[in-house]
Amino acid sequence: MRYWWALLLPVAGLATIPGAVADPVPPQTTAFVEGSCALCHAVPGLPAEPRTTSCTDCHIWIKAVASDPRKREKAKEIFPLWERYEKNVHSYLEVPNLEAAMARLEPEWVRGYLQDPHDLRPNLDESMPRFALSEATLDSIEQAFEQARVDVEPTPKPRRKNVEAGEALFTSAGCAACHSLGPHHTSVSLPMAPDLAHTRARMDPDVAVAWIANPKAVSEHATMPALGLDQDQAVLLRDYIWLARLDWESSQVTQAVIEPTTQPVTWEDVESRVFGRICAHCHMNPELNQGRAGPGNAGGFGYAPTGIELETYEGVVAAIDAIPDALQRRRDEADRDWVKPGSAPRVLTRPDQPGMPLGHPPIPDEDISLVLGWIDQGMPR
Ligand code: HEC
Ligand code: HEC
Ligand code: HEC
Ligand code: HEC
Repeated sequence: MRYWWALLLPVAGLATIPGAVADPVPPQTTAFVEGSCALCHAVPGLPAEPRTTSCTDCHIWIKAVASDPRKREKAKEIFPLWERYEKNVHSYLEVPNLEAAMARLEPEWVRGYLQDPHDLRPNLDESMPRFALSEATLDSIEQAFEQARVDVEPTPKPRRKNVEAGEALFTSAGCAACHSLGPHHTSVSLPMAPDLAHTRARMDPDVAVAWIANPKAVSEHATMPALGLDQDQAVLLRDYIWLARLDWESSQVTQAVIEPTTQPVTWEDVESRVFGRICAHCHMNPELNQGRAGPGNAGGFGYAPTGIELETYEGVVAAIDAIPDALQRRRDEADRDWVKPGSAPRVLTRPDQPGMPLGHPPIPDEDISLVLGWIDQGMPR
């Protein structure tokens, strides 16, 4: 077995929820199961995914072993590619807390986001994968957010005259140490703290005040610390977040045509930089992985199976006609990932098929050029 992490994604297995025999499973819980949400998030009412399938727990475990010299030596004996794993794994080491999100986010926004996710945390490489969820599943998830939403006291409407004082407080109270707000406060920001430019689209203004005053009062799972602010200060900060000017242009729209490289390219080059490093992880060869094929091959996240295996030379060659297009689509989507701060996301603006690698930043142009060059050169081994 070459890829020991092959025990990946038994989405169907998730459908049996231990302890759910006596009580009927609420439709919301089933919807979270259908969406495979527990692969990354702790989902209320669902048991934690085992490390063999959880994208978060397994990646965290790899980093934990890497930092323990004794365990690391043992792992290197068992897994011939261990050092490569340590070097490559960087995604999903932390994900947002779903319960805190359910308490504060607007259910309707969540529905749009699930259909057409976009970047919320500029310093976090990975984002939510795009899902192919049915309307019924989306309805149930929206309802679950509706039911979990916190009740708060009404507050005054956001006022422009508070913006200046709010801006000063944003810096002096320490918010700027963790959060950016569109083009403002971008020098320091914590990867897990959302860019607050999207907050006006996804939170109720009253809930925002309650959250800023004391996040734990909105959800005990909040990870943002309470900063000892009173209600009036929280209103000033909310008004700044709501009404600050956010004019800026995307810097990510670089759509120059990628030329195939003319340098000689080997299979080893494309395997180590593209297919083995990232694609194989979702497009596994079941024969090398105890029957597991991954969501990109056997189906998952609501998608039907594709039969595309990108772990072996033969598998890549068999799928080669679709690959350049899939990479280019993801590159185009990088533009859609960037939603003009303060605007609603452009829901359902994407092509029917998601670009690849799903939910991860596009492969760098240089590596796409490498793949194109390798194809031009007749795909040498
Ligand atoms: C493969 C891992 C993965 C899976 C599966 C996944 N998520 Fe996420 N989710 C993430 C990551 C990573 C983020 C943070 C994205 C960002 O900030 O740009 C996120 C963010 C979110 C957010 C926004 C929360 C916040 O604090 O900003 C919500 C809501 C959410 N996910 C709901 C869901 C639901 C519902 C499902 C199941 C249908 C799901 N997720 C499945 C990885 C995942
Ligand atoms: C049992 C452990 C395990 C599980 C479960 C697991 N991974 Fe990984 N993942 C790894 C290892 C090991 C690597 C490094 C592979 C390599 O470099 O050859 C990796 C690498 C990756 C990479 C490329 C590096 C990075 O961090 O971006 C992506 C993307 C990825 N995994 C996504 C996922 C997703 C999505 C899931 C859940 C559906 C998942 N993984 C579940 C062990 C795991
Ligand atoms: C130590 C880092 C840190 C500091 C300091 C901090 N936050 Fe946060 N904030 C977070 C994190 C992390 C989240 C994501 C939710 C969570 O897990 O608690 C968050 C969430 C939020 C949200 C919800 C936004 C959304 O779109 O979901 C608002 C609003 C917010 N913070 C405002 C503020 C304000 C205003 C301040 C200053 C008084 C501040 N934060 C200080 C880390 C921080
Ligand atoms: C996080 C998991 C994941 C990763 C990583 C991933 N894929 Fe996929 N892939 C999928 C899923 C799920 C589908 C099915 C989507 C569909 O039916 O449109 C798919 C479908 C495809 C398809 C067929 C549909 C199309 O777009 O033509 C191709 C080709 C493909 N992937 C190539 C790649 C390549 C190349 C990489 C690496 C750069 C990659 N994939 C990385 C999950 C993944």
